[in-house]
Amino acid sequence: MNRLRIALTKGRLLEQTTELFEEMGLDCTPLRSPGRRLIHSLENYPLDIVLAKAPDVITYVEHGACHMGIVGKDSIMELGGSFFEVLDLNMGKCRFALAVRQGENFYGTYKSRRIASKYPNITRKFFEKKGIDVSVIRIEGSVELAPILGLADAIVDLVETGDTLKANGLTPIEDVASISARLIVNTAAMKLYRPEILGFVERCETAIQDRNRE
Ligand code: PRP
Repeated sequence: MNRLRIALTKGRLLEQTTELFEEMGLDCTPLRSPGRRLIHSLENYPLDIVLAKAPDVITYVEHGACHMGIVGKDSIMELGGSFFEVLDLNMGKCRFALAVRQGENFYGTYKSRRIASKYPNITRKFFEKKGIDVSVIRIEGSVELAPILGLADAIVDLVETGDTLKANGLTPIEDVASISARLIVNTAAMKLYRPEILGFVERCETAIQDRNRE
């Protein structure tokens, strides 16, 4: 059986992915103490794991450097790309929301508004659909700062617990999209390694169904 290579997103999603893999029966010892290593081989399943940042997971899968990847729908929506999105893993769940300073009447003005976001494409599309003219300012992180510092009138950002918004005096006023982690597959790999990939996808599906039954 050919070894598969999968790119995983470093950060919050990695812990949840490791748990899912363990429920699939994969021995994830290397992932439990990865140190500085970025590639890990599993012993009891023909799988090599590459640890990368979310946008790079998409790049590696799109170009075939990795056969598969696990990445948030947020990155997929923002960056697009050509690959198969084969499974909603039902984890890493959060939402995109439009948020403003508490008490602010965002829609109560005709003047053009500035929106800060780490996701300029998603933000632009959201307001285009509404027919509202906005200028979008790209921010790399801690986007909540932008309205506080007067750089923007609102933000479009990921909200999980809502604690970050609350702690910074912001409040969500509208949902933009629901987000969860997805399993993506390189299009050529799907043909070349079909039995191996479908075998892996099936294992994922079974583990997710088992979770739902609990
Ligand atoms: C994300 C997001 C929010 C926060 C939401 O940021 O951009 O800031 O998490 O989580 P909460 O609703 O549970 O408080 P992240 O921690 O990934 O860092 P970043 O702000 O630098 O992007």
